[in-house]
Amino acid sequence: MRSSHHGDGYDVLVVGGGIIGLVTAWRTAQRGLRVAVVDPEPGGGAARVAAGMLAAVTELHYGEELLLGLNVASAARYPAFVAELEAASGRETGFRACGTLAVALDSDDRAHLRELHALQQRSGLDSQWLTGRECRRLEPMLAPGVRGGLRVDGDHQIDPRRLAAALLTACERAGVVLHRARAERLAVVRDRAAGVALADGAGLAADQVVLAAGSLSGLLAGLPDGVAPPVRPVKGQVLRLTVPAPYAPFLSRTVRALVRGGHVYLVPRENGELVVGATSEEMGWDTTVTAGGVYELLRDAHELVPGITELPLTETRAGLRPASPDNAPLLGPTALPGLHLATGHHRNGVLLTPVTGDVMAALLADGELPEEARPFTPHRFPSSADSARQEQPA
Ligand code: GLY
Repeated sequence: MRSSHHGDGYDVLVVGGGIIGLVTAWRTAQRGLRVAVVDPEPGGGAARVAAGMLAAVTELHYGEELLLGLNVASAARYPAFVAELEAASGRETGFRACGTLAVALDSDDRAHLRELHALQQRSGLDSQWLTGRECRRLEPMLAPGVRGGLRVDGDHQIDPRRLAAALLTACERAGVVLHRARAERLAVVRDRAAGVALADGAGLAADQVVLAAGSLSGLLAGLPDGVAPPVRPVKGQVLRLTVPAPYAPFLSRTVRALVRGGHVYLVPRENGELVVGATSEEMGWDTTVTAGGVYELLRDAHELVPGITELPLTETRAGLRPASPDNAPLLGPTALPGLHLATGHHRNGVLLTPVTGDVMAALLADGELPEEARPFTPHRFPSSADSARQEQPA
């Protein structure tokens, strides 16, 4: 590998400059290590599409109780994390401690929400059952047919685009070097990760490499058998509407519902943006915004909040969630010495950003993964060699 001019190389090279790669780089640079990020478009990735719900409680699913602990820990860190990041970057992140209301539109939805409420209570989480009338008192724009809901005052939101921009600036201010290029191949020297080769043949050398490339993480060439992370892309289509100033606030908190088995959520920003999401589609690398996807989101959102049809539709986009086989992230060392993973965050990448930064920086600086992340090491999927090797995206 022809090495580019960076002395003896970096202590840590992070492959992928989305929010997970950037928070890992920022936190690690704060520990005094020489850190670089390689990404053609740092600050991009799935966060450009994500709505930014911090929904540890309302997105609880059966069978994900272990993940719940990590989600709750990260949610609890958010206020202090945001304060530190905004001070370090001089940028606002759009964090809004607004809470969430999950509502039911028919008796099936209501039964489902009752089950969720029972699971939340068994898990020691804070949520309150409301009648339909109480839901509409909180959010007058809700449809008259709403049958009941769950008020969760601890599930907040952040603007993921502003979060990414703040992390990028914080990284630069902390001395992280940004390489705006694509990492083509992992360099392995004497059975140890030693950096990456770029498309032009140049190399970046590092003592430790972190693979944090979202759904693309399994596609880096040169990953030895058994080391490629088992992540796959799960497509999400998301809409952005604008609430004109005279009508604000349209909604005062995140409102979500299960409509005909599909989740729909409306996330109101303080600046008038209203994010409507999201489809969940196993479509490989396809990021087409489809008429059907937009139609379903608008149809379901309209059933929930009929007034949305008056609002300008300002953006439609699709992104790819990096999903692991058990929907939980892959955090920590791989079987290849010097190579670590921070990927597979699926629906929870924004929520898990603070805790991911903390545990990855501890691993990289101290050599030990903190206790809270140990259930999420890549070792829980022993033979993941081929599962991520899907066809390269166009
Ligand atoms: N966490 C929201 C989503 O993945 O759609």
